[in-house]
Amino acid sequence: MISPYITSGPVTGADFYGRRDILNEIAAGRCRASYVLGTRQIGKTSLLRQVETQVPAMFLDLQWAGGRLEDLSRQARREVHRKRQQYAWLPPDDGLPDNLFELLEAANDAVEKARERLWVLMDEAEIWVRIARSDPEVLHKLRGTIQNCPALCVVMAASKSLSEANTLTGKEGSPFLSGFALRYLGPLSLPDGAALLRQEQGSVPVTVDEGLLAHLLALTGGHPLLLQLLGERLYEDGQLRATTEGDLAGILDQAVKTGVFPQDFAALSGPERAILRAVSSDQPLPADCHPTYPHGLVGLGILRREGDGYTIGHAFFARWLQEQADWEARSEVTAASTLTVYSQAEMEQQVRLRRVFAARFNLGELRVLCSDMGIDHENLPGETKEDLAREMIAYCVRHRLLPKLMETGRELRPDIRWEDMAG
Ligand SMILES: Nc1ncnc2c1ncn2[C@@H]1O[C@H](COP(=O)(O)OP(=O)(O)O)[C@@H](O)[C@H]1O
Ligand SMILES: [Mg+2]
Repeated sequence: MISPYITSGPVTGADFYGRRDILNEIAAGRCRASYVLGTRQIGKTSLLRQVETQVPAMFLDLQWAGGRLEDLSRQARREVHRKRQQYAWLPPDDGLPDNLFELLEAANDAVEKARERLWVLMDEAEIWVRIARSDPEVLHKLRGTIQNCPALCVVMAASKSLSEANTLTGKEGSPFLSGFALRYLGPLSLPDGAALLRQEQGSVPVTVDEGLLAHLLALTGGHPLLLQLLGERLYEDGQLRATTEGDLAGILDQAVKTGVFPQDFAALSGPERAILRAVSSDQPLPADCHPTYPHGLVGLGILRREGDGYTIGHAFFARWLQEQADWEARSEVTAASTLTVYSQAEMEQQVRLRRVFAARFNLGELRVLCSDMGIDHENLPGETKEDLAREMIAYCVRHRLLPKLMETGRELRPDIRWEDMAG
């Protein structure tokens, strides 16, 4: 039997594991613009392709367009043409403007007329930064188009390099990404990672011994490509065999060949490298470390929480950092841009947490949560559970206790998908 694992290209349908919350959130279409932030090979294209199977969408691959607006516009025209076979209400080819922004407005008009929504999925969206460097007006136009087109939901999937767009929108007006809902696309949750290894959605499930399963999840931290690479390598007649040292070195080589680690490393700002260097050598975090950095690095799966501290997100990156990282290499993303997007994501996480506490906990449970955290709820103002939730989160932010709040929440209510809150 050949291995059922898929180790290249995006996956969709039954091959696509996990990510239920982020998929539902995007498909619900509440946000007119969102930025899905993830490292390489974490599953950004797969997520967009999966969204495309669920809602009316046009898919734009900015990498393919090579940073040229004309090529992107041409791609968009072709995409409208292709999708018209499925969604007859999309505008017809003749009369479709050549210019991307006008084309999106024309699409919006047709979508509004049909009382539909159209998702505009932009993959490799960090290329906007490259386009904007030669045409500074482009980001204003893009933002204007998003504002003027209420029937469109724009979803950008990109690495952290897109955060540099904030520095290119000029002095006047708010930073480009401020209107975007920001979500990290981190590793798969452990149950979803286990389902992938066992191929639970496939036609022939794979047998994996419990101990081995836990070992593989610990090695990869739930990174989907690494899980797939391990699955493929260890697959023998319907089951997975135990790993050898040769397997781990082989997978590290395979991953390095795809350029994953150097590219992710290049996007790390100076303060993030200082954090990784400390964690890599079992040192405490640098004393001047802004707490938002480890929060962002955990969201991306580059770091993992372990007890009260941190560890490198997965064994392969840890080994690469030890053996191959050039700590002096130039960073592609500045500390300021990094901090802006991480802070924005952190604030949005707090809003989500507040919503979860308000919707899924009663006042008594919130008080238990407070006391389990060692917080005296009598000292927090708040009569209603909404007030108490808000005050409790504010308290945890002030005292850097949010990760602990999530961990305690998980112990009390394992039915809630806390890992989806991390991003
Ligand atoms: N949701 C998922 N379920 C299963 N495998 C996944 C998933 N997301 C990503 N993968 C694995 O990771 C690889 C890279 O995914 P891809 O979507 O191309 O990542 P990115 O666009 O972030 O570089 C895929 O070929 C597949 O092996
Ligand atoms: Mg991709």
